[in-house]
Amino acid sequence: MGSYRVAAICLCCFVCSCGAREEEKEEVLQTVNNSLGYVAQSLTKKEYLAGDVLSVADIVVWGAIYPLVIDGTSLPDELSSLKGWFKKVTELDQCQKAAESLLKGQGPSVFKAFLQKLPAPVLVSEKSLSNEQEGEDTAARLLSEEDIAAATEAWKKGLHDVPKPKPQQQPILPIDGEKNMLITSALPYVNNVPHLGNIIGSVLSADVFARYCRLRDWNTLLVCGTDEYGTATETKAMEEGLTPQQICDKYNAVHTAIYKWFNISFDYFGRTTTPHQTKIAQDIFHRLLERGFLLEDTVEQLRCETCQRFLADRFVEGICPFCNYDEARGDQCDKCGKLINAVELKTSVQSVCKQSPIVKSSRHLFLDLPKLEERLEKWLDQSLATGDWTTNARYITRSWLRDGLKPRCITRDLKWGTPVPLDGFRDKVFYVWFDAPIGYISITANYTDQWEKWWKNPQQVQLYNFMAKDNVPFHSVIFPSCLLGVEDNYTVVNHLIATEYLNYEDGKFSKSRGVGVFGDMAQDTGIPADIWRFYLLYVRPEGQDSAFSWSDLMLKNNSELLNNLGNFVNRYTTR
Ligand code: 2FM
Ligand code: ZN
Repeated sequence: MGSYRVAAICLCCFVCSCGAREEEKEEVLQTVNNSLGYVAQSLTKKEYLAGDVLSVADIVVWGAIYPLVIDGTSLPDELSSLKGWFKKVTELDQCQKAAESLLKGQGPSVFKAFLQKLPAPVLVSEKSLSNEQEGEDTAARLLSEEDIAAATEAWKKGLHDVPKPKPQQQPILPIDGEKNMLITSALPYVNNVPHLGNIIGSVLSADVFARYCRLRDWNTLLVCGTDEYGTATETKAMEEGLTPQQICDKYNAVHTAIYKWFNISFDYFGRTTTPHQTKIAQDIFHRLLERGFLLEDTVEQLRCETCQRFLADRFVEGICPFCNYDEARGDQCDKCGKLINAVELKTSVQSVCKQSPIVKSSRHLFLDLPKLEERLEKWLDQSLATGDWTTNARYITRSWLRDGLKPRCITRDLKWGTPVPLDGFRDKVFYVWFDAPIGYISITANYTDQWEKWWKNPQQVQLYNFMAKDNVPFHSVIFPSCLLGVEDNYTVVNHLIATEYLNYEDGKFSKSRGVGVFGDMAQDTGIPADIWRFYLLYVRPEGQDSAFSWSDLMLKNNSELLNNLGNFVNRYTTR
């Protein structure tokens, strides 16, 4: 049993007969006791939580644990400091009155519905759980008796009584006093056809959330577009004998058509190779430079003299310096898994033209993350405390900070990118990961010239970023650092939703080996988009990696979608 499950059961089995088994209750008590132990420990050194006088902290914690330890007698002896404190606070006149007004002589069962609705705390560890466990627990946690009664009432009234979502004004802009939801899905690289893992990881997840927000009548803007700059595009252009621009045009159209077929409800699907991108990225760069957040340093890089270009690490192949595997990539060895610096490969060739590169040094600009770290941490504390961040996003972000931030190179010796507007660097472009998140902003600017109402309005806008877990550090550490560093009132992510990976049968999706189901193939099967959407959402890799499987697709379609959901909806619509 995972910790999440324990948390979901524990809060109600204290006060109701929910049928939790004895061993479950014990486990629950153990978990709660661990948390209470922290509070008890701090009370061994002082009388009240914040010192020697009563403060709001005591009232908040007292109120939070009151339903669980209503008279303090259920607390074990080793928590005696907590027991004493609880008794003292309970005896305060105001607290007694508050408790009486709630309990009205009925005892702790008054709290049942309230406790069932409490969000499950993330306890013990942030470990992954399977989709099914999580689904089960979420249902147990969210459905109180009131919820069920309200659903029954709504069912009886029928659809015609449900208010229609109000029509959206165009362009969609934040409205004073309303809930303004700015939703992004990670911008897919333009150099290939997206596979099912890419689709569920960001665009489909964001789409479902945006649809939900619109149904709630929240003012919602969903933006996305292709991520078009960088080495991957240059390399694809060489492979296909096209220019980078032609590659972008070709694959932007492919992506657009696939998402349209999947019914992804983007309010705007754009691209990063636009004048707005250049202007906004260069402005952010200038502001970082003016504020002293950029450094200069020399970097050793591999260069192919035949192709006359510097090579990105992953486009170099050679012998692994650790295990001697002779097909190691310049960024990582697929055999021993170690991260490699491409210049350390024993002998290397460029993966496209197969010539040996030379090592050459070059001057580059770095984002001074150590200098931005303090303000980043302050912002993160607040965003993590108030926002919806998935467990993996929190974990990845914390581990980046725990390891200490280092300066990150934001320029590259490439042609296909946003030009660096600084003497001495004018032949270089921005690194794609500096550039890409700025794409969210520039894509919005292509949608409306009032884009700043979304992007320079953190007081009124809630920003949701959807992505797969490998994108997390760029969205939680690097991009927020840039936006905080420019000091221009930018909207910074409030909620970061990251999936784990979707595998294909018992292996990985692989673009290069053509393994998996790609967007265009899904369409060619003749299976309707809604069935794909249903199945992908069913196997969405939330707590841990999950897998697409053809036989499971058939099974889930027949048993869940058709028999369960289909019959349920049919009963409603034909009554
Ligand atoms: O992993 C990817 O496909 C990247 N192109 C995602 C970029 S997200 C954002 F920063 F633009
Ligand atoms: Zn190796």
